[in-house]
Amino acid sequence: MQLLLALVLALVGAAAGWAQTAPSGASAFNHVQHLAGVIGPRVAGTAGDRQAAEYMATQFRQYGYAVEFHTFQFPFFEVRQVQMQVAGAQPRTIQAEALLLTAATPAAGLEAEVVSVGLGRPEDFEGRRVTGAIVLAERGVLTFREKMANAASRGAIAIIVYNNQPGIVPGTLQQRAEIPAVTVSQDDGRQLVDAAQAGSLRVRLMVDVVNETRSTANVVATKRGTTRPNEIIVIGGHFDSVPRSPGANDNASGVATLMEAARVLASVPTARTIQFVPFSGEELGLFGSSAFATERRQGVVAMINLDMVGWGERLMVGNSPGRDSSAVDTALQTAQRLGIEVNRFRAGASDHVSFERHGIPTVFFHRGVDPAYHRPTDVPANVDPKHLDEAARLLVALIQDLSQARSSATPGRYSQRF
Ligand code: BES
Ligand code: ZN
Repeated sequence: MQLLLALVLALVGAAAGWAQTAPSGASAFNHVQHLAGVIGPRVAGTAGDRQAAEYMATQFRQYGYAVEFHTFQFPFFEVRQVQMQVAGAQPRTIQAEALLLTAATPAAGLEAEVVSVGLGRPEDFEGRRVTGAIVLAERGVLTFREKMANAASRGAIAIIVYNNQPGIVPGTLQQRAEIPAVTVSQDDGRQLVDAAQAGSLRVRLMVDVVNETRSTANVVATKRGTTRPNEIIVIGGHFDSVPRSPGANDNASGVATLMEAARVLASVPTARTIQFVPFSGEELGLFGSSAFATERRQGVVAMINLDMVGWGERLMVGNSPGRDSSAVDTALQTAQRLGIEVNRFRAGASDHVSFERHGIPTVFFHRGVDPAYHRPTDVPANVDPKHLDEAARLLVALIQDLSQARSSATPGRYSQRF
């Protein structure tokens, strides 16, 4: 009976011109080549980010979707240059790295006396005058931010944190800092401590960073539902990348798969409204999806996130521990029906988290972390079109399963909805 119904629907659909074509890994891969190969790195708030958004909007419009940009603001941060020298007759250059969210120095840099303060705890400052000085502190016990704040509140004009292990360590100040803050290696740090204690040590520091609020946009392609237009299924995935990485697997693979599903479903009616939403600002802290979930979650009954689906042994579906997993259960059933083998997993930090925070059921598609993750080597060749094909087939079927409501939805209750 169901088979007959499906057959009739398929025939009627074909006659009406909304017959569904199959998703193709090869056409999804074309998007990976454009986004990661032609455009390249797509850091939120930069030209690559804008070009990618325009490209996707154009594609969605060609498929027949209504497209809009959902703009949002976020804290943009970029390191341009860091220079550090021991001042004196023979200046000595020391390799220093900016802590993320550091303040900049004046363009010409600054020069001041260095005061060593142990770990940089409040008691370490007792009896030491650091007003107008550069503070030197060892890593450990307190966060970088706490050390920076202790120095800044006592009048220091910059802080150098040296590693408590060999080598130089990258790190973040979590929020915008009041003063310039850099890290150096353990070796260099110990030499500076010795020099500071032996007599007067002056250091020149130049930190050139961009630290400002910028605005960028998510792309929203909408197909209105036939019988339940006020209930929305969101299909998301981030299109921004980290600096210097073309982000082929992370995450041109996910948005390419999402766009291929959009192409295939463009002329297939669905009961619920479908929104395809490539997000920006994920790599800097889920900013695009957070803004979307905060401002536009009205009516959203489920969210599917795709992040890194082009490399790895097996497709995985999951959500965060302790969250509503009704949509994951549906995905497992859909995969079984299609004969696609998937593993269930406990998902990492990506855009679905922004929706889970509002109690919305999510499914995260992911395939594992490749060796090129966040590196310049994450190029299109890192992505296998076969994997995109598999993810797109599951995605197309899952969107249909989630959007054709079988039971009546109770507002505020998400389980048993699909
Ligand atoms: N694609 C990753 C997230 C990821 C990594 C998911 C491994 C599943 C397994 C994403 O682009 C990323 O790198 N996110 C950041 C977190 C974000 C909140 C800044 C991360 O994981 O460091
Ligand atoms: Zn990612």
